[in-house]
Amino acid sequence: MAKSKTLFFCKECGYESSKWLGQCPGCKQWDTFVEEPVAGRNHSASPRKDIKEPVLLSDVIAQAETRMKTGLEELDRVLGGGIVPGSLVLVGGDPGIGKSTLLLQMSREIVKQGRKVIYISGEESGHQIKMRADRLGAISGELLLLCETNLDLIETVVHKHKPDIVVIDSIQTMYREDIASAPGSVSQVREATGALMRLAKESTTTIFIIGHVTKEGMVAGPKVLEHMVDTVLYFEGDNFASYRVLRAVKNRFGSTNEIGVFEMQSSGLKEVKNPSEYMLSGRPVGEPGSVVTSSVEGTRPILVEVQALISRTSFNMPRRTAAGTDYNRVNLLMAVLEKRLGLQLGDCDAYVNVAGGMRITEPALDLAIVAAILSSYRNTAISGSTVVFGEIGLTGEIRAVNMADQRVAEAAKMGFETCILPKANEANIKAAAGIKLVGINNIQEFMQYIKENAPKV
Ligand code: TYD
Ligand code: MG
Repeated sequence: MAKSKTLFFCKECGYESSKWLGQCPGCKQWDTFVEEPVAGRNHSASPRKDIKEPVLLSDVIAQAETRMKTGLEELDRVLGGGIVPGSLVLVGGDPGIGKSTLLLQMSREIVKQGRKVIYISGEESGHQIKMRADRLGAISGELLLLCETNLDLIETVVHKHKPDIVVIDSIQTMYREDIASAPGSVSQVREATGALMRLAKESTTTIFIIGHVTKEGMVAGPKVLEHMVDTVLYFEGDNFASYRVLRAVKNRFGSTNEIGVFEMQSSGLKEVKNPSEYMLSGRPVGEPGSVVTSSVEGTRPILVEVQALISRTSFNMPRRTAAGTDYNRVNLLMAVLEKRLGLQLGDCDAYVNVAGGMRITEPALDLAIVAAILSSYRNTAISGSTVVFGEIGLTGEIRAVNMADQRVAEAAKMGFETCILPKANEANIKAAAGIKLVGINNIQEFMQYIKENAPKV
């Protein structure tokens, strides 16, 4: 009898190996290899007769793509302007972040347009989904529900009903009978996705796959299938903050630069059309250590508040933390401040926080971090109607950043009066209505400016 063949797979990224490895060469994670039987693949099928000839790319006729609107503007934007028929979309995220809610809400909007959606759940019972749906509001239209985890049966149902959209909640619960390993294992997840891919292409049904991000545990993460699908969206957010960000990390039909912002409420997800307003609500205006910056997420400027607290340390080693931004970057900026402005930060604790639970790592945030640290250190506020942005170099120079125009425009739109920005950007800003621009070259100039323009108390 032939020995059944097994291979080792990385649970995080799907890397394949014939022997067990301690560290995955693919994603550099430790102890992620699991042994799994591999399905016998049918390589020896009769050779294909219909050999295709290559054609000139210029002769290929492009079909006008018709995109289906989801009814959720934020989702449409992230998808690149709507759903492309026949595509496969992966929606990943931590358990409990709101993936099922988002896709159920999307299904609800789509059936309103007279289209047909099948929501296939392997996680929740019909009763549970109904309870969730009731919270979201009444459903009018052809929204079908199927509680099933066997992919062969699912395929039959899809061929029979020919829906426009299928939602698979979640890929880690689905299985194919001809694969020996358990649902959630790397080979099951990969084969199941492969089957869904074929199903999507031959039926022109768009399939949304939900995939849980797993920290540790027995199920394969969505990274394993990222390369197989057309579009990968991640739904992120802070468990303590109610806002959620939907981000495209791969998109064959659009840019990956877009984000969608939602807020989780008791009646489901609500689109946040004006994230700046949302991020700035409740900010302490005119308090030392609080500064507003204009950050760009994708192509979208968002105003966020950066806070810093500098206090004399009572430890041998000063404590430093950075929430919502890069810890090493904060340390670097503090070193620049010490060297270029002579600040005595060596015996100070420093806490830097991007308020609202956003995570920003773009260099344009530098000047805001420095401004917040300076403001807290000197215990002098920076005017609440001022926005700052700019990248800082090691010599203390303020360097130009991208999309300065949009950043200024957003600040002006939100009613800010002054914008401190890199000198190199200042000249290129087109008509900035109602906002005063202050271009600066280095942090010494910045210090000078905030000393002269400190708000009167
Ligand atoms: P869910 O969509 O089940 O998450 P996922 O599918 O990503 O695991 O959302 C779960 C969380 O959302 C749950 O903790 C409760 C919350 N929630 C609300 O706050 N309001 C709502 O209307 C709904 C449906 C969920
Ligand atoms: Mg769910």
